[in-house]
Amino acid sequence: MSSLDATSNDTPQDPQLVDNPLYNRIKERAQADKPPSRRSPLGAVAASRIAGTSSRKEMAERILEEDGDLVAGTFGTVWYKPVTVCGIDLKLEPLQPSIGTVVHGLDLATDLDDPEVVTFVRQLWLKRRVIAFRGQEHLTQKQMVRFAEHFGVVGMPFGEKDHVPNSPYDLNQQVKVKDIPNMLVLPSDAEVPNIASGWHADATWQQKPPMASVLMCREAPPVGGDTCFCDCHSMWEGLSQATKERVANLKAVHIGSVGHQMDGKTPMSVHPVARTHPETGRTSLYVQQGFVKKFADEHNIPEVEERKLLLEMKSQEGRPEYTCRVKWEPGTLAMWDNRCVLHSGSGDYWPHRRYMERLTILDADESRRVPYYDPN
Ligand SMILES: [Fe+2]
Repeated sequence: MSSLDATSNDTPQDPQLVDNPLYNRIKERAQADKPPSRRSPLGAVAASRIAGTSSRKEMAERILEEDGDLVAGTFGTVWYKPVTVCGIDLKLEPLQPSIGTVVHGLDLATDLDDPEVVTFVRQLWLKRRVIAFRGQEHLTQKQMVRFAEHFGVVGMPFGEKDHVPNSPYDLNQQVKVKDIPNMLVLPSDAEVPNIASGWHADATWQQKPPMASVLMCREAPPVGGDTCFCDCHSMWEGLSQATKERVANLKAVHIGSVGHQMDGKTPMSVHPVARTHPETGRTSLYVQQGFVKKFADEHNIPEVEERKLLLEMKSQEGRPEYTCRVKWEPGTLAMWDNRCVLHSGSGDYWPHRRYMERLTILDADESRRVPYYDPN
């Protein structure tokens, strides 16, 4: 179904959601003809696009009318690097100078059976931190798992198997995929829009956060809904020398949200502020203020100084020079390195539909899963 003809659809993208209290609370807002809350960018952007009405229905209709004239096409010049790997001609399209590459020419269902191709993709991923592939809509959910297994151990939806959230206050976890408990589904439609907007790396509130995440787009808005990625090595390099020296040996507290609770307990972990990448040896700033609100108590940092340091770090998040964005099409798959990349969904696409599937990957080398800082 195209996202353009879907907003009158009364059924959720997945029937498993109909009994969920959070889902129904958001749906009530739709049934009362109230626009999405402006506390979410989805509501703020819609209000910015369509002024002069407080009717959700009218807003949605006017946005769909405005976007209804869009047609798919290509024009312009794309710069890419041609390479041949194991006899396969590839085109490597950089998204930004320091981060992000789209790899054209691989079929993820078959080409990674050759270990040399896997080695090439891994090296490229380590260098560019985010890689994306187009035209992979033929990949089944099981083949997606197989793809992820080439790079490590496929984790549960939030990484390690010992923390599986069971809070009803997160829509993504309520959709269970038959036979694939590892998969997290992220549905969003006109009635119950849903987006992980805000800079974060996945599940850093875990003791051993997932090494990588893989995201597949099954349904995309015609405009909007990109995922933005931010390079944490650049974030570290961009701090002042004085701040680097002050924080290099500090630890910060990462706290999950209510949606990450397991048996009513909010997960929490303490990780180094400067993180050494276990494969490249490079340092990244491992503080993202989605989950980090303070430094570890053991440091006794005065509140005023703590606020100043966190603010300086926050000013690094999402700088245009450190970021790239992936525009999704059905069949676009991206894989990023959670050890040195933040991401944020662009909450600008309501009332269009968006449907994504995510896997996390744990480092196959268990000794590298806990974040550490090695100044040498
Ligand atoms: Fe995320």
